[in-house]
Amino acid sequence: MTARFPAVRLRRTRASAWSRRLHAETVLTAADLIWPMFIAEGQGVEEPIAALPGVSRWSVDGIVERGREARDLGIACVALFPNTPAHLRSDDGVEAANPDNLMCRAIRALKDAVPEVGVLTDVALDPYTTHGHDGLVDAAGYVVNDTTADALVAQALNQARAGADIIAPSDMMDGRIGLIRDALEADGHHNVQIMSYSAKYASAFYGPFRDAVGSRGLLKGDKKTYQMDSANAEEALREVALDLAEGADSVMVKPGLPYLDIVARVKQRFEVPVFAYQVSGEYAMIEAAVAAGAGERDALVMETLMAFKRAGCSGVLTYYAAHAARLLAR
Ligand code: PBG
Repeated sequence: MTARFPAVRLRRTRASAWSRRLHAETVLTAADLIWPMFIAEGQGVEEPIAALPGVSRWSVDGIVERGREARDLGIACVALFPNTPAHLRSDDGVEAANPDNLMCRAIRALKDAVPEVGVLTDVALDPYTTHGHDGLVDAAGYVVNDTTADALVAQALNQARAGADIIAPSDMMDGRIGLIRDALEADGHHNVQIMSYSAKYASAFYGPFRDAVGSRGLLKGDKKTYQMDSANAEEALREVALDLAEGADSVMVKPGLPYLDIVARVKQRFEVPVFAYQVSGEYAMIEAAVAAGAGERDALVMETLMAFKRAGCSGVLTYYAAHAARLLAR
C-alpha cells in the first residue's frame, strides 16, 4: 500500500533551493548543446536575420570567432548552414559537392582554429538549389529519391573530406544513410559519425531558417512528399529503425517541442542517442513571446531546453546555445 498524506508530502523536497537542486532528476549542461550557425560569403560580414532576432549570418572569419566562443562556453558542437550566393545555385545543386564551397571553407577554418569543438554538417541540397528543394526535381516537380541519394553521397563525402565530424542528413530520402555510411567507410572516414534527421516533419516552424539560407522565396510547393506528416508517430519509429539498421550513430527528431512525444517514444524503444532540433520557428516564437511581454526569455529558454533532456534527449540543437551556456555558467 502506498503511504499517504501527511506521511508523504511531496512539497518537502521542494521547500528550499538546495533541496530542489539535490532532487533534480535531469541535468542540462553546455555540453548538451549544439549551436547552429549560418555562413555568409565575404570577409568581416555580419548579416542579422530579421525573422530570427539575435541571430546573424557570419562570414567564415566570424564563424571561427563563434567557434572560439563555443569552446570557451563548453559547447560541444556547432552545426553549419551556408547561405549560398544566388549565382552558385542551380537546378541540381552541384555546388554542394564543390570542395571549395562556403561550407567546406567554414569546416576547414573551424577545424584549424578550434579542433576541440565538433563540427556537424547538414546534408540536403536546399541551400544550393534554385527551386529550394532538398533534392533533385523531375518535370512533374517530384523530388526523385535515388538520384538525389547519389547527390547526397557526393555532398557528404565532400564535407567529410573537408573535416566534418558529424554528417547530418536532413533530406528524408529513403536509403541514404546506408549509402552515405558505405561511401564514408570506403573513403576511410571510419570515425565520421552520422546523426540522421530520422523523424523530420513537414513543418510550419522552418520559415525563419529558409530566410536564413535564402531558400524561402525560391521554394516551389512544399516538402510533404519527403518530410513526415505531423499526424504520424509509428512511422517515425520505422524511420528510426531503418536509419539505425543502415548505420546511423544517433538520430534526431525535428521540430523539437511540438514533437517531444516522438523523442520519448524513440528513446524508450531504441535506447540510442536521440537529439532534437529546437528549430527556427520555435526560437522565433519565444522571441515573439518575450517582445509581447508574455514571458521572460531566460526562463523560457531554460525550461524548454530542460524539457528536451527530460524527454530523453542526449542533446539539443538550439539557436540559444550560447545564451543558455552563459546562463548555465553563472
Ligand atoms: C534543410 C533543413 C531545414 C532545417 C534544417 N535543415 C529546413 C527545411 O527542411 O526546409 C530547418 C531548421 C530550422 O528551422 O531551424 N533540409
